[in-house]
Amino acid sequence: MSTLLIDNIGELVTNDSNGEGPLGLRRKAAVLVERERIAWVGPSFHAPAADRRFDAGGAAVLPGFVDSHAHLVFAGDRAEEFAARMAGEPYTGGGIRTTVGATRSASDDELRQATERLVLEARQQGTTTIEIKSGYGLTVEDEARSLRIAREFTEETTLLGAHVVPAEHADNPWRYVSMVCGPMLAAAKPYAKWMDVFCERGAFDEDQARTILTAGRDAGLGLRVHGNQLGPGPGVQLAVELGAASVDHCTHLDDSDVDALAGSDTVATLLPGAEFSTRSTYPDARRLLDAGVTVALATDCNPGSSYTSSMPFCIALAVREMRMTPAEAVRAATLGGAGALRRSDVGVVSVGARADLIVLDAPSHLHLAYRPGVPLIRTVLRNGVPQ
Ligand code: NIG
Ligand code: FE
Repeated sequence: MSTLLIDNIGELVTNDSNGEGPLGLRRKAAVLVERERIAWVGPSFHAPAADRRFDAGGAAVLPGFVDSHAHLVFAGDRAEEFAARMAGEPYTGGGIRTTVGATRSASDDELRQATERLVLEARQQGTTTIEIKSGYGLTVEDEARSLRIAREFTEETTLLGAHVVPAEHADNPWRYVSMVCGPMLAAAKPYAKWMDVFCERGAFDEDQARTILTAGRDAGLGLRVHGNQLGPGPGVQLAVELGAASVDHCTHLDDSDVDALAGSDTVATLLPGAEFSTRSTYPDARRLLDAGVTVALATDCNPGSSYTSSMPFCIALAVREMRMTPAEAVRAATLGGAGALRRSDVGVVSVGARADLIVLDAPSHLHLAYRPGVPLIRTVLRNGVPQ
């Protein structure tokens, strides 16, 4: 049986209560990997023998990032829309229909290659677990094929047929809701683990979102919600009421939203790439953390509101713009994301967890926010395999 010892780790982020502080830090540590799992964690001087040894050279090692929110199956881009926004146009989500047109026209191979490119781009930046949503097909066939392609890259796949009402159903949104809950859900189910809905003015209202999420839950899918992104709304309360694993964006919250999240198992997933790329006010992470809410950070990678696949970039934004400490941001990008996907085998460095690890080109996790925009991810191990 082949074993790999990662030795001479200057700072190990474990997210485990045995270590120091909120990140469970260990110094001068080593990690033993046996096949795709972590088999031992401890001080370097106690390290067991192994078939192979990787010298981290005193650098920081972290669990791989868990990006729990990404829209990667699409064709084309919307750079012109971004430029118009930077010249003063507001973001409304209306551009989603542009990407739907391009995605419907693309071949399976084109979509697969575009998705793969983004998955590899994310991986090079330290993402070892990624959630991928559909949502740019918006027909039964196009949503099912988007998820079939997404499944080639991850087990964390989400049906977002309820992204917006497509133009051909604009005269009767409830007809589209029935299609999502009926034939689309049935066709997507073999490839989807989660059901999501964009609960927002201009997308789906509370009744429609409840109908869609309930159908997903009845079909055995876990629930996630896009809520309170562009303005106040019912998304957060609905997510909590239905026991969703995560409610994402959470930019416009009132006290009752924060209280509801604090008393629930629903993770608040913050997506600062979206506020960056739409030049909007960032969510108040401090308020959520101080209320005891579990917070995750994710990229929201998509061609409209956040075309970044970089978790380090999101960490830096969260620290600079959302009043998170570097430790809180790193925890949210690893353990927080795992919580948002209800996974206990990722986002931690502990015995039995997946051997998903990042070796930084830096001595400490602090550098992820301290050195923004710098490629600090030196080595990525996924399932014990160097990428
Ligand atoms: O999460 N909010 C809805 N959906 C995406 C944006 C999609 C797009 O603009 O293409 C988001 O920000
Ligand atoms: Fe999104």
